[in-house]
Amino acid sequence: MQAKVEEKRFPMHGDARGQLIALESMSDHIPFEIRRAYYIFDTVPGTIRGNHAHKELKQVLVCLSGACTISCELPDGTVSEHCLDWPDRALLIEGLVWRQMKYFSKDAVLLVLASEHYMEDDYIRDYDEFRKAAAKVMSQESSK
Ligand code: TYD
Repeated sequence: MQAKVEEKRFPMHGDARGQLIALESMSDHIPFEIRRAYYIFDTVPGTIRGNHAHKELKQVLVCLSGACTISCELPDGTVSEHCLDWPDRALLIEGLVWRQMKYFSKDAVLLVLASEHYMEDDYIRDYDEFRKAAAKVMSQESSK
C-alpha cells in the first residue's frame, strides 16, 4: 500500500441551532470500513504520543475538542505537520507513515477511526526499523 497523508475537511450541517458532522464508512471522507475507534484525552501537557508507523493500517484523525498537532514522516523522508483544531478538520493516514501526536491542548479529545482491529503486528515502534522499511519501499518504487 502506498503511504499517504491527506488533510480532509468534513462537511458541516450547520443551522441556527449549531453544527453537526456525519461520517460514513467507504465515503470520500472515510475511504475504508471503520473496524475500530479510539480516543485520546486528558493528555498530560507536553506529552508526545504515537512514535510509530503502521504497515497497512488506514486511520482518520479528528480533534473533537481542543487542538493537537500530528507530525507525519513519509518513506521518502518528507515531514509534514497538521494542526487539528476544529471538529471539521481531519487527517487521513495510510500505510507506512511515522507519526507523532503532540501539542495537545488541555481540553483535547482526539478521535481516531481505524480500518482494522488492534494488531500489535502491524506496528513499527522502532524509528531505525521504520527507516529500513521505508528504504525498502523507496527502492521497490524506483525499480518499477
Ligand atoms: P499506544 O500504542 O502507546 O498509544 P499511542 O500510539 O497513541 O501513543 O497505546 C497505549 C495502550 O493502549 C497500549 O497498551 C495498547 C493499548 N491500545 C489498545 O488496547 N487498543 C488500541 O486500539 C490502541 C490504539 C491502543
